[in-house]
Amino acid sequence: MQPYVSELALYDIANTVGVAADLSHCNTSVKVTGHQGANSLPEALQDADLVIIPAGVPRKPGMTRDDLFNINASIVQSLAEAIAKHCPKAIINIISNPVNSTVPITAEVLKAAGVYDPAKLMGVTTLDVVRANTFVAEAKGLPVADVDVPVVGGHAGVTILPLLSQTTPKVEFGEEEAVRMTERIQNAGTEVVEAKAGAGSATLSMAYAAARMAESVLRGMAGEAGVYEAAYVASSVTELPFFASKVRLGPNGVEEVLGLGPLSPLEEKGVADLTPVLKKNIDTGIAFAQTPP
Ligand code: LMR
Repeated sequence: MQPYVSELALYDIANTVGVAADLSHCNTSVKVTGHQGANSLPEALQDADLVIIPAGVPRKPGMTRDDLFNINASIVQSLAEAIAKHCPKAIINIISNPVNSTVPITAEVLKAAGVYDPAKLMGVTTLDVVRANTFVAEAKGLPVADVDVPVVGGHAGVTILPLLSQTTPKVEFGEEEAVRMTERIQNAGTEVVEAKAGAGSATLSMAYAAARMAESVLRGMAGEAGVYEAAYVASSVTELPFFASKVRLGPNGVEEVLGLGPLSPLEEKGVADLTPVLKKNIDTGIAFAQTPP
């Protein structure tokens, strides 16, 4: 359904051929191809402009995103190695959790292969913005299409920091209400994990958010001006090497990383609280990628 997509190449270790056959019957001009099994990864990646990685295992109730590290880190690492080989110039959108660590892992793999371009590597945090917009619109009785809540930091627990004071249109939150709203946004993924009761985590809202992000990336690549999304990227906005904030997207990926803007005291505390947590997540990812097999 995206006007800028000409071919959608689906890759997985199983079930891809059926999904591709199913999708290929939609009457759009997109060519859909299915690639199943590790041997078919090179052909799936060949000539890709944008690679979206949602691979890996989801959480079960009681798990944090970090609990997925042991399985998902290696999956993302091997996909990144294949990207470095077969489509080193592609923009990469990473959804696989823990995003706070899988993005630094990918950066290290690409660096080791000599093809790292920080402007082309993005962790997808769009769902945090989508959720924040939905919850704030509901709470304040606003049309959701008009609401934009910047969300910064990372994509897990306290590292997800909505900047409620910078919401458009301007909305007022009492301190307790701001704390409650912040916690709801931080725990929204867990809300879905618990509601699904062992059957996985968010898939539909995540697909919606990832499609929005992909469309924005492609619009930027096509030269559209003024395309902005939140993303977890290489950043000098804080002392941390990776941080999520609003970015301007353009022909080469991230053209500009926007700063935090004026923060409320609660948000300042939020940044202070998330910094050591996010640092640990980043360090864990880097150490994993730098450890010889
Ligand atoms: C989400 O935010 O829904 C995803 O990161 C999946 C999860 O484990 O919460």
